[in-house]
Amino acid sequence: MAESIIFILLGGISVTTLILLFGWSQWFDPRWIVLVFFVLIIPGLYAAFTTAPFVPSSRKRHVTMLKLADITSKDTVYEIGFGGGWLIFQAAKQAKKAIGYELSIPLVIFGKLKKLLIGSKANLYFGDMWKQNYDDADIIFCYIMPNAMKRFYKEIWPTLKPGTRLISNAFRIHDLQPTQEEDSVFVYTKK
Ligand SMILES: C[S@@+](CC[C@H](N)C(=O)[O-])C[C@H]1O[C@@H](n2cnc3c(N)ncnc32)[C@H](O)[C@@H]1O
Repeated sequence: MAESIIFILLGGISVTTLILLFGWSQWFDPRWIVLVFFVLIIPGLYAAFTTAPFVPSSRKRHVTMLKLADITSKDTVYEIGFGGGWLIFQAAKQAKKAIGYELSIPLVIFGKLKKLLIGSKANLYFGDMWKQNYDDADIIFCYIMPNAMKRFYKEIWPTLKPGTRLISNAFRIHDLQPTQEEDSVFVYTKK
């Protein structure tokens, strides 16, 4: 959270400095900012209504998710909807490969800036989690709404290789028995 505030402050300071240095051009209509802002937030709004809004997991839950994942250096890890990125950046320190997808453009920009700053090997993509391939996944992290969990079970679960583990914060797959459960984090293992 502290890092997020620092990034937002730095972004605000940079934009303000540019405006103070160059001022508004005669031809520049500030209404463009409003338009660009709405264009930037549209994919995130779509993601929020169809799958899950950006409500980050608590740090305590993130830690439980990492603990239950027990990542090794042979694992390929995905986070679907990486949000603020903390989990996928931590996972990247232990995994062979760490891949995150996110539909909210501001969060993708934030994640990519943070990746540069901290020098993480996580691969972060702007992309719809429903349109990706997870057949090499050993571990998938998620925190998505109950309806999206149902959809995941119907559409993505059958495509996973045996042994893949889904680590879900807060929400269950009701048709499956979790293989582990702690502090409302559920682990499902593909047979
Ligand atoms: C509840 S937040 C969880 C964020 C992070 N995984 C965590 O646990 O802190 C869900 C995230 O999924 C993203 N999201 C929702 N639908 C998505 C989709 N179809 N493709 C990619 N990301 C999506 C949202 O933008 C949001 O950042």
